[in-house]
Amino acid sequence: MEIFIATANMHKVAEFKAMLEPLGYQIKSLNDLEENIEIEENGQSFEENALIKARYIAKRYHIPAISDDSGLEIDALNKQPGIYSARFLGHDTSYEYKNSQILKMMQDKKDRSCRFVCAIALCYPDGQEYVFQGTIEGNVAKKIEGPNGFGYDPIFYYEPFHTTLANVDPKLKNSVSHRHNALIKLLEHLNETK
Ligand code: IMP
Repeated sequence: MEIFIATANMHKVAEFKAMLEPLGYQIKSLNDLEENIEIEENGQSFEENALIKARYIAKRYHIPAISDDSGLEIDALNKQPGIYSARFLGHDTSYEYKNSQILKMMQDKKDRSCRFVCAIALCYPDGQEYVFQGTIEGNVAKKIEGPNGFGYDPIFYYEPFHTTLANVDPKLKNSVSHRHNALIKLLEHLNETK
């Protein structure tokens, strides 16, 4: 069966391919389309944003479609940056800047708990819709640390590793990540409905 991943992000496409192709699924992505598609993520939650993209592709191309949306929630900052993680403090600001600003905002906070959240939507052309959510719990680190990963990884302290997610091998991070945990749920669903 063919499944469409509603993203042009090669990193995400590779991660989905690695998990779905061994099960016999053929993966297509926005990069395989001749037309240039921009889908506005104007939902109010990770689930809504993931659904908007997968629903659009499933309807337009009559093919099962998967999409994900993810971000960082910090409890002491009212769950910011949340669905605005990519746009936080400006779309074009560097993560060095975003991360250092967050550390400043967290300077006198006792509660440093935070989590990465990932919602994966699966939409079928006949209107069936499913959302699978994965999380990873951590704390906002006291300093920026680690050369690996991307985005907020250098300030995401993960207790079981005694360091930030940017300070471990990316394979190790990917084996415990929010995206991985959501993908496992998607795989369980696909196996059950095969
Ligand atoms: P999107 O899911 O591609 O819209 O990404 C949302 C944003 O959330 C990213 O640009 C990052 O800022 C943040 N984010 C999501 N997942 C991760 C992660 O695994 N590590 C670090 N930052 C992440």
